[in-house]
Amino acid sequence: MNPERIYRRVAVFGGVYSNYLALEATLEDARQRDVEAIFCLGDMGAFGPHPDRVFPLLREAGVLAIQGNYDDSMAAGKEDCGCGYTDPRDNHFARISYEYTFKNTSAENKAWLGTLPKQRRIRLGKHRVLMCHGSPRTVNEFLWESTTPNGLLARFMRDFHTDAILCTHTGIKWQRILPDGKQVVNVGAIGRPENDGMTNVWYTVLTSGDDLHVEFAPVHYDHETLAREMEMEGLPPEFIETIRTGWWTTCLEILPAKERARGKH
Ligand SMILES: [Fe+2]
Repeated sequence: MNPERIYRRVAVFGGVYSNYLALEATLEDARQRDVEAIFCLGDMGAFGPHPDRVFPLLREAGVLAIQGNYDDSMAAGKEDCGCGYTDPRDNHFARISYEYTFKNTSAENKAWLGTLPKQRRIRLGKHRVLMCHGSPRTVNEFLWESTTPNGLLARFMRDFHTDAILCTHTGIKWQRILPDGKQVVNVGAIGRPENDGMTNVWYTVLTSGDDLHVEFAPVHYDHETLAREMEMEGLPPEFIETIRTGWWTTCLEILPAKERARGKH
């Protein structure tokens, strides 16, 4: 078994969704925060324009990535993104997004996605950390703040022998510290704002200590340029409205009642 590398301070982001402008801004912000490594929890494509633009940025910055459901589908040439939606409207938009992304991603980049591991383990000081996309057991499981019970999280900690779990996939960040001090952090997504009427996106900085310190970092980027490029690429107006307003217009049916009530639609 490989001993996990021990870090003091790292940056972790998820859900790039082809938002290369937010990715650039995130990498710049992370460099200024004295992190030793930058990790990505997957889903490079979806929603945004020009999917190939994210790959050189990830490689040049030495980002240590894992596969999301989108990356797995792209690499394997699957029919759909495996996002896990059940509503017909959500699936309609997911299909448009996936077809555009698949058509506009080079064979070389698809192959690179296929080389990424499904999960990673590191240590932050004394804390064992497991990175996954959806949940430790399923790549496209939605772990929402309002519907994820402590009992399930405690079971994950036991079954996967870890002190902290980092995930993404839902697009909305949250943190839970369990009674025994172990914790789960959904690091959010940098590809699209989180349905709060703000145009910025979020990533996470983790620092080791007696406790694992978690800081959610806001990232402001040139969202208007991204919106205009999406228009020029003929992407759905619903996706562009989300980038401009910070309110979700799609993927609404998967939101639990509490998270949906915070949004506008
Ligand atoms: Fe995902």
